[in-house]
Amino acid sequence: MCLLFYYQLTLPLLFAVGTAVIGSLQFGYNTGVINAPQIIIEGFYNETWTSRYSEHISRTTLTTLWSTSVAIFSVGGIVGSFSMGLFVNRFGRRNSMLMANVLAFVAAAFMGLSKVAASWEMLIAGRFIVGLYSGLSTGFVPMYVGEIAPTSLRGALGTLHQLGVVLGILIAQIFGLEGLLGNASLWPLLLGFTCVPALVQCVLLPFCPESPRFLLINQNQESKARSVLEKLRGTEDVRDDMQEMQEESRQMAREPSVTIPELFTTPAYRQPIFIAIMLQLSQQLSGINAVFYYSTGIFLRAGVPHPVYATIGAGVVNTAFTVVSLFIVERVGRRSLHLVGLMGMAVSAVLITIAMALLDQLSWMSYVSIAAIFCFVAFFEIGPGPIPWFIVAELFSQGPRPAAMAVAGFSNWSANFLVGMGFQYVEQLCGPYVFIIFTVLLLGFFVFTYLKVPETKGRTFDEIASSFRHSASGESFGKYTTEEFNNHNVY
Ligand code: GLC
Repeated sequence: MCLLFYYQLTLPLLFAVGTAVIGSLQFGYNTGVINAPQIIIEGFYNETWTSRYSEHISRTTLTTLWSTSVAIFSVGGIVGSFSMGLFVNRFGRRNSMLMANVLAFVAAAFMGLSKVAASWEMLIAGRFIVGLYSGLSTGFVPMYVGEIAPTSLRGALGTLHQLGVVLGILIAQIFGLEGLLGNASLWPLLLGFTCVPALVQCVLLPFCPESPRFLLINQNQESKARSVLEKLRGTEDVRDDMQEMQEESRQMAREPSVTIPELFTTPAYRQPIFIAIMLQLSQQLSGINAVFYYSTGIFLRAGVPHPVYATIGAGVVNTAFTVVSLFIVERVGRRSLHLVGLMGMAVSAVLITIAMALLDQLSWMSYVSIAAIFCFVAFFEIGPGPIPWFIVAELFSQGPRPAAMAVAGFSNWSANFLVGMGFQYVEQLCGPYVFIIFTVLLLGFFVFTYLKVPETKGRTFDEIASSFRHSASGESFGKYTTEEFNNHNVY
């Protein structure tokens, strides 16, 4: 197994995946970057307001402007993820990633120049545009990686998308320290930094191959697909891959490109799209971004002496456990890891609640709350962080894949927006008990995953899709158990 792992991990494959996940890093960076410099940028809003209107900005207007600056990113994400289907079949996977960088450059210019232009409107516009870019990336990257990876490494390489995201968050947290870029004079550089990864990706992408599945199945370019595969696999013997893609191609001739409404009306797609949406919701409604958007405030209320460092600690734990998942996902499987992750998060959320509730009586509870939040983050990265992103590409064959990824991305980003906007209000209502809501949701998603989510490890795209077809033609959704699904293809 281990030998196979290294044998299939060729340099061109790693180079292509590594270049693609720069897009994931951008998404993570812009998720994390706005947390630390809040007070400083609010100061800039106030100054700009005062010089324009000769009076101080009111607290309510400032809160509204700030919440908009934070949340407009997810609005961009919703629009971007939903539009990815317009690009991938027309321009190809690689060129779509390349083109999207225009958005990253424009966004960096808007955000980086907002201070000299004395315009918070430019900052908000920049956040929206980089949100568009990130929404597109969360579709393009898992699709490209899933399509170039060999079956036995699809989970491990798919997890690299999430590793890119968490590294991006961590880099943003570190750069955001006051001694580095998180201060009154350098924050425009902190936000404008996003043009650097964009530049690197533009230089490297032309050396990456187009997805061989796209070349063969969508473009009918068999010899080009074969030569790309030979390079990616490091061998001339690519018969198995070619055969599997040809089988999928025949299947696609019967079901060419699938529209979004067809995903819900065609019996063979209804079950996987439902699973895909629920997995995305399980990722976001787990409450993870309550931590990543608001951790500094949460730690502050929990009585932690240096909340910024605790936030960086959460970023480090986040990264470390994504690496753990990367190494075990092909052995343990997606379904089991997702289940372990959800249950672990539910238990950690109970611990967080206990710690917060007892804080007034027992001051050492602040340490328990740090430990519990770290566990919450660690369990997230074991399963619910990486798996939903790449499993959607696995659940669908070439025809319905772009539409399915658009719907999944849309669900993910909408739930992200909901938590980002709603958390502070709900926290005001529920106080220390706010995490109980996430516990209940997590347990619900655990039961759903246990009953409905099949294992996709080690299966080809075609095998997975044909299991769903088989399921749809025989029984109605719900009668076909996971066990039956899992036994359908013995490989
Ligand atoms: C996932 C989520 C993202 C979250 C991140 C935390 O990628 O999609 O919203 O911020 O994990 O690591």
